[in-house]
Amino acid sequence: MSSDPLLQPYKLKHLTLRNRIIVTSHEPAYPEDGMPKERYLAYTVERAKGGVAMTMTAGSAAVSKDSPPVFNNLLAYKDEIVPWIRQMTDAVHEEGAAIMIQLTHLGRRTRWDKGDWLPVLAPSHHREAAHRAFPKKIEDWDIERIIKDFADAAERMKAGGMDGVELEAYGHLIDQFVSPLTNELDGPYGGSLDNRMRFCMDVFKAIRSRVGDDFILGVRYTADERLPGGTGMSEGIEISKRLKQSGLIDYLNVIRGHIDTDAGLTDVIPIQGMANAPHLDFAGEIRAATNFPTFHAAKIPDVATARHAIASGKVDMIGMTRAHMTDPHIVRKIIEKREDEIRPCVGANYCLDRIYQGGAAYCIHNAATGRELTMPHIVAKADSRKKVVIVGAGPAGLEAARVAGERGHEVVVFEAASDPGGQIRLTALSPRRKEMMSIIDWRMAQCEKHGVTIRFNAWAEAETIEAENPDVVIVATGGVAHTDVLSKGNEFVVSSWDIISGDAKPGTNVLIFDDAGDHAALQAAEFLAGAGAKVEIMTPDRSFSPEVMAMNLVPYMRSLQKLDVTFTVTYRLESVEKNGNQLIANVGSDYGGISKQRVVDQVVINHGTIPLDDIYFELKPKSTNHGEISQDELIAGQPQSVVRNAQGQFQLFRIGDAVSARNTHAAIYDALRLAKDI
Ligand SMILES: Cc1cc2nc3c(=O)[nH]c(=O)nc-3n(C[C@H](O)[C@H](O)[C@H](O)COP(=O)(O)O)c2cc1C
Ligand code: SF4
Repeated sequence: MSSDPLLQPYKLKHLTLRNRIIVTSHEPAYPEDGMPKERYLAYTVERAKGGVAMTMTAGSAAVSKDSPPVFNNLLAYKDEIVPWIRQMTDAVHEEGAAIMIQLTHLGRRTRWDKGDWLPVLAPSHHREAAHRAFPKKIEDWDIERIIKDFADAAERMKAGGMDGVELEAYGHLIDQFVSPLTNELDGPYGGSLDNRMRFCMDVFKAIRSRVGDDFILGVRYTADERLPGGTGMSEGIEISKRLKQSGLIDYLNVIRGHIDTDAGLTDVIPIQGMANAPHLDFAGEIRAATNFPTFHAAKIPDVATARHAIASGKVDMIGMTRAHMTDPHIVRKIIEKREDEIRPCVGANYCLDRIYQGGAAYCIHNAATGRELTMPHIVAKADSRKKVVIVGAGPAGLEAARVAGERGHEVVVFEAASDPGGQIRLTALSPRRKEMMSIIDWRMAQCEKHGVTIRFNAWAEAETIEAENPDVVIVATGGVAHTDVLSKGNEFVVSSWDIISGDAKPGTNVLIFDDAGDHAALQAAEFLAGAGAKVEIMTPDRSFSPEVMAMNLVPYMRSLQKLDVTFTVTYRLESVEKNGNQLIANVGSDYGGISKQRVVDQVVINHGTIPLDDIYFELKPKSTNHGEISQDELIAGQPQSVVRNAQGQFQLFRIGDAVSARNTHAAIYDALRLAKDI
């Protein structure tokens, strides 16, 4: 038996967990009609197959109708969920993993204009900044109803074969009762700590009396809100002890912080550029104070940190949740001593930020996550070996090379630069984004493993490629910054990439015109303001940086507000004129009737990229398919069969930003779904 602390079994009451790594509850927003159907099942089972000890499915399934999901969560208040749950638990158990589900009432952390349009409720009228609803103050009959709803939902989960349920307390209704900041009730549920914890205890009692003892019951709660007037650490320890002493639950899942604002949420679930394992020691203190089974997750992205968490005795089970979205087979790779092959979570938070915008969770660099029904995590070998030539070693080109290599093809990549990475290499120049380079480093290591040849400093001409005698050519040459967008004065501007790369010297009084709304504008602003410039970011949109999204925006704002960068929304830069050493920026508005000027010494444009596609158009007439991709075959997961020129020498495909400016995930998905069928 292995001596690896991570691989030791753990006895949680009657349940034996096969190792110490769990996936904590997270809602990827894959339900269909509020039910965990085939897609949800495939996603969950993939992680069980990968060896995780326990998968805690569903980010907080809703127990009541007046807790409507703000993103696509499971509806645990419906009886029809039981067979769907049963299908999932049977499949997970068959793979040797345990499975639990999280239940919640969101309280004020939702909206009244969702679901059945019922009033949102909470133990006070204070609204939550993130979801904006002004709550009704909860009444006695609401409390009775919701306690029963929790018990009913837990009973459904037991009937569905779950090993247990976890109550999502932090930020949701249960902790809204516990926190003095959100509880303004009189009577038995307000005031003293005993009273504020009464709702939580009543819910536990009701559930326990329904499900009996042979069912795991746990709670995920904040033991330190880190807010003035909120539950502080000493009260958090007292709460933890009382939870244990209740004898009603089997473990604690410890959170530190608050989630009522984007900034608070980001400190609870840190993103790239923020410290790893920031609350692990705190979780260890709770465990030491309670001597009770303690679980925890918060940016434990790598196996070494997870091993430390267990070996040091800080926690009993360690969550590697986003890490499993990036690589569902972590435990298998640990067991097979292939840790170096684990696809790393780079903390990009594309997954989480997407669900808060109403989308499904996708991993920035694993396009198979959430698409298990159509995309492979392990690529199958091809029936026959082909010669595949790829132009460009950015994320799209390297993903195509990795996948084609894994298929067993002979793969040659031409890259004009001296290093791989394309736009990712540029984005990783910002210290907060340097983890992004792991997207490239992991692919380079995989390409090496699969015998891919990469030629750097190699500008591929049509003849160079033809000389390779390829069966398939994939053009993944990316794009170049697009600044030619003004009616006049385009020659006076620089691009955000010029600033980030250091190709353009920072000005002192700078206007950034950003209508792409992605990271590059904020990165450029940070470089400029950090170098001492006065910076204004202007966008014609209603809000700035829409593509950066909520949690990714937090570290930028913490930095840019201190540097006094200003943001102007709903104005459009129309033209630029030179006036001596200065530039005059002429500003209008899509709403009309406005004409203003700014006098600056540098104008930076952030308007995405235009495709670098010369090589593609040179090769097009020589190919069998004239570059055409059958969308039907692509979507159906079939090999490409278009023939437009029977005399052609090879199939030709174009992917990523070489087609049109999109993002890293889109580039990688383009590559995976094409190359898996070559
Ligand atoms: C897409 C997504 C959805 C999540 N939803 C929930 C949720 O509903 N309830 C919850 O307690 N935590 C939720 N989380 C937080 C995770 O359980 C975990 O605490 C967090 O991702 C930090 O752990 P990690 O760094 O290992 O990913 C979610 C995380 C992700 C990525
Ligand atoms: S999107 Fe980023 S944070 Fe989310 S799982 Fe993927 S790599 Fe990790």
